[in-house]
Amino acid sequence: MRVLLTGGSGFIGSHIALLLLERGFDVLILDSFVNSSTNVINRIKSYLNNKDLKYKLETINCDIRDKKLLDKVFNDSIKEKKPIDIVIHLAGLKSVSESLINPLHYWDVNVIGTLNLLLTMKEYECYSLVFSSSATIYGLSDSVPMTEDQKISPINPYGKTKVAIENMFSDLYHSSMNLWKICSLRYFNPVGAHPSGVIGEDPIGIPNNLFPFLTQVAIGRRKHLQIFGDDWETKDGSGIRDYIHIIDLAEGHLSSIDYLNSNDSCLEFINLGSGIGYSVFQIISQFELSTGCKIPYSIQRRRDGDVPICYADISKAKKLLDWSPMRSLEQICLDGWNWQMKNPKGYS
Ligand SMILES: NC(=O)c1ccc[n+]([C@@H]2O[C@H](COP(=O)([O-])OP(=O)(O)OC[C@H]3O[C@@H](n4cnc5c(N)ncnc54)[C@H](O)[C@@H]3O)[C@@H](O)[C@H]2O)c1
Repeated sequence: MRVLLTGGSGFIGSHIALLLLERGFDVLILDSFVNSSTNVINRIKSYLNNKDLKYKLETINCDIRDKKLLDKVFNDSIKEKKPIDIVIHLAGLKSVSESLINPLHYWDVNVIGTLNLLLTMKEYECYSLVFSSSATIYGLSDSVPMTEDQKISPINPYGKTKVAIENMFSDLYHSSMNLWKICSLRYFNPVGAHPSGVIGEDPIGIPNNLFPFLTQVAIGRRKHLQIFGDDWETKDGSGIRDYIHIIDLAEGHLSSIDYLNSNDSCLEFINLGSGIGYSVFQIISQFELSTGCKIPYSIQRRRDGDVPICYADISKAKKLLDWSPMRSLEQICLDGWNWQMKNPKGYS
């Protein structure tokens, strides 16, 4: 089975790629490398070579907004008698703060990019899609854990682009029943790294998320961790989030493929998280305990666009996808730290 994996060189995409290849899928990674390194692909290949695994992997440097090139990708695949069976779409921009500064860029890349992809998939009659949505779409929810059917009210442009894309899926699905198979996976906070340490999270510039910031402080690349607000209405004043091991998240995509393959037509919105909320201070304590590193930190004012508390109800994923997260917070800390120790400067 051939999978087109957009954004496959990024943090989440690279882990999905590795799992797909290990399980015998034919993978075509499409990425513009605007937020990732081409070294990722070499790492994946050398990991598989070292394990003596036969695999089918191709890469194309393409911006998802380039309709002509997208057409060519689908067309060539048909000509070469290996048509794309399913698309896993991760290519996009993901920084809440950046989206507040440059919202049009986010609408362009995320929404126009996805529209292009859907138009091309329709033209080439490829109707199966797994999409990377986000818990950000729930915004300031009055109840936790978050269930898929609760109010959608994003409070930043990034989240709004994900909602627009989900709305596009709904219109498309309802306009042509029995054709499209779509799983829109609402990720919470994917963290950690592949246990081998060959791939992991390597954000360009100052990390926007807690975990890479934490590991970069631990390795000495940054002086101290910035905590955005210790005056939230939570038990210790810091924000509460749901952290899911990147391999658990990646496995959720394989389960989604199985689900799409065993259903005629569907559109499902599904939370992928651990189902547990941890505060920033709890994360620091666990990381210090698991790794023996001391994490100096400073308290900053709250960031615009952040919410106090956000964690998932994952019963739908468990039931529909027959999937459950298997890895603990301790495992997340150990694997994330292993990656950072083996790659103090990331991929560079
Ligand atoms: N990491 C998270 O915490 C998180 C949470 C929820 C949802 N998501 C979503 O998951 C997806 C992947 O996230 P990630 O953490 O791996 O991010 P990432 O930035 O590491 O990966 C995204 C990849 O997409 C590529 N890309 C960006 N714009 C592109 C374009 N116009 N054309 C082609 N490729 C392009 C980047 O080069 C990068 O390799 C994103 O859509 C993001 O919104 C991420």
